[in-house]
Amino acid sequence: EKAGFDHFMLKEIYDQPKAYRDTMGSRISPDGLGVTLNELKITAEAIRNINRVHIVACGTAYHAGMVGKYVIEKLARIPVETDVASEYRYRSPIITKDTLVIVVSQSGETADTLAALREAKRCGAHVLAITNVVGSSVAREADDVITTWAGLEIAVASTKGYTSQLIAFYLLGLHLAQTLGTQTSDEIKETVKALKELPAQVEEILAQAEAIKVVAEEMAKHDNLFFIGRGLDYAVAMEGSLKLKEISYIHSEAYAAGELKHGTLALIEDGVPVIALATQHELLEKTVSNIKEVKARGANVLGIAVEGELELQKSVDSTFVIPKTLDVLSPALAVIPLQLLSYYASLARGNDVDKPRNLAKSVTVE
Ligand code: F6R
Repeated sequence: EKAGFDHFMLKEIYDQPKAYRDTMGSRISPDGLGVTLNELKITAEAIRNINRVHIVACGTAYHAGMVGKYVIEKLARIPVETDVASEYRYRSPIITKDTLVIVVSQSGETADTLAALREAKRCGAHVLAITNVVGSSVAREADDVITTWAGLEIAVASTKGYTSQLIAFYLLGLHLAQTLGTQTSDEIKETVKALKELPAQVEEILAQAEAIKVVAEEMAKHDNLFFIGRGLDYAVAMEGSLKLKEISYIHSEAYAAGELKHGTLALIEDGVPVIALATQHELLEKTVSNIKEVKARGANVLGIAVEGELELQKSVDSTFVIPKTLDVLSPALAVIPLQLLSYYASLARGNDVDKPRNLAKSVTVE
């Protein structure tokens, strides 16, 4: 079933172009002008009444929710909070009937996420689930479901599960924007067009896996490394760091690039690898100055940059280039090299890639 790949994780990384296409599927209108989420029961009137959105999930799904916050706030201009499910319930969140609670779970069986869903329903919120398993507990109990069509995910480390959740957030963000009129029809058309280009762009990145393998083998020699980024790049940095820790057992931290000088910079010394995500054009200049801060302390910086950003490339030691897309969509591309990096680092360290120590695929205890 590994379809010729050495591990399920690698197969699932390569499944992503198809997972993107299948998740978009008929939800993108044939004329390419917008999206149609026919499966949603929530009415346009109820959408107009939403005054806040809560996104609740665990682990990698939580990181997708961090991207979801940016996407919904940007496209639909509704305030969004993203919480870890095991924390959400216990902080007496303010939930009313005008709160849209989005639970994100690949398996649809995560105990903490399910408990958060039940609490949200008890408080009268409208609950929308983003899940990869049709008929899962989360899917059955939510008021609305957006199914991610990633197909069965077997490796413990989630890859296509995560990226198909990103696609679901883009579709949902566009649907809300269409309903609320927060984006012009031209803006929506432009985003839809860029969305449709993503699968082929992921293929372009996958074709460069060898280059990532070389970097990963070098990084596997280190015991500590850092991921930095601003805005959406910070959300991707969090996911990259989790993936690396999870399967390579290399300690890493993800930092909002602007926060380094408030403490973490003390840990940067000669030769420490830093992976700097720098795909957000408005933040580029600021990110470059943070890159200079770590470089000045001897860090060895790998930049993840969008094609054509030569200034940025000059500021780092090496660069992995991703194809051009809209800034809001870049997480769906920028995470791919990080998944490959974790995979090859795990392999270089001789770990069991698909079954990392101490972890289970489905976490059904709170
Ligand atoms: C990490 C990973 C976990 C899951 C988390 C939630 O690679 O897979 O962090 O994302 O356990 O699982 P689901 O999405 O099934 O609720």
